[in-house]
Formats: sequence, structure tokens, C-alpha cells
Amino acid sequence: MNRKEFIQHCSFACLGSIGAVAMLQSCGTSKELSGTISGDDLIVSLTDFETMAGKEKHFKKYIVVQNERLKHPICIYRFSETEYTALWMRCTHQGAELQVFGDKLQCPAHGSEFSNKGNIQNGPAAIPLRSFPVSIDKDQLKISLKK
Ligand code: FES
Repeated sequence: MNRKEFIQHCSFACLGSIGAVAMLQSCGTSKELSGTISGDDLIVSLTDFETMAGKEKHFKKYIVVQNERLKHPICIYRFSETEYTALWMRCTHQGAELQVFGDKLQCPAHGSEFSNKGNIQNGPAAIPLRSFPVSIDKDQLKISLKK
């Protein structure tokens, strides 16, 4: 491989990496949204779970909600039209922020895993995730942030 071919090869590899990172970032943030805090409640619209595939309406399994007043995001799982779980994405082992992988929340620090109900599936964490009471008010979900 001559110098010109080498530079060309590296340029394509570099462009490929940038594209891959951009794709990963867009996937990672596709389900994150900002919630509003009103009093002691985090408010999320039920339509935030909706997604369209052609003309068919589907529902996301979960959304991740951020707010500047929260130290960590909250992951809200949707089990049915009336059943939701809101979990604080803070690992109960040493406080690292969790990552969502489908029906699981995983800790990048030491590998703890939690179910979509907040139960421990793998240690070293020994305490389930903090969950918040969820109520439905018309077309909104209210997540109570009170202790
Ligand atoms: S902080 Fe999460 S497993 Fe240690």
C-alpha cells in the first residue's frame, strides 16, 4: 500500500467511525425527553409513549425522562394502558447512573442489573431501585417525587 492509498484508507475508516458514533448517539437519546416538574410531581404526557409504524400506533416499552432538578433521570416502563413503573436511574450500590437495555437497567460501574420493576437481578447491588408512585390524570402521567 502506497502513501496515497494509506491516507485514503484511513480517511474512510475515520468517516466510518464518525458515522457509527453519530448513529449510536442518536439511538441512545431517541427515547430521552424532558419532563416538567409541577409541585412534587414530574409530569409526562402519555403521548410520549406513542410511536407510529406506518399508520399503526405502537407504544414504546419505556421512556427516559430528564429534568434539570433531578440528579439522575427516571426510566418509566409501560406495561399496559394503566400500568407503569417509574425507576430512578441511580445504582443502589455506589450511585452510578444506570443504562437501559430493553427490560433491564445495567450499571456500567460494577455490573449490577435491575429488572423493569427495579428488582435486583445481579449484584453487587443489594437493594432494589428506588421507584416512584405513578398516577394517571387524563392524558398525563404524574410521577410523585415525594419521599
Ligand atoms: S455503582 Fe453500580 S454496581 Fe457499583
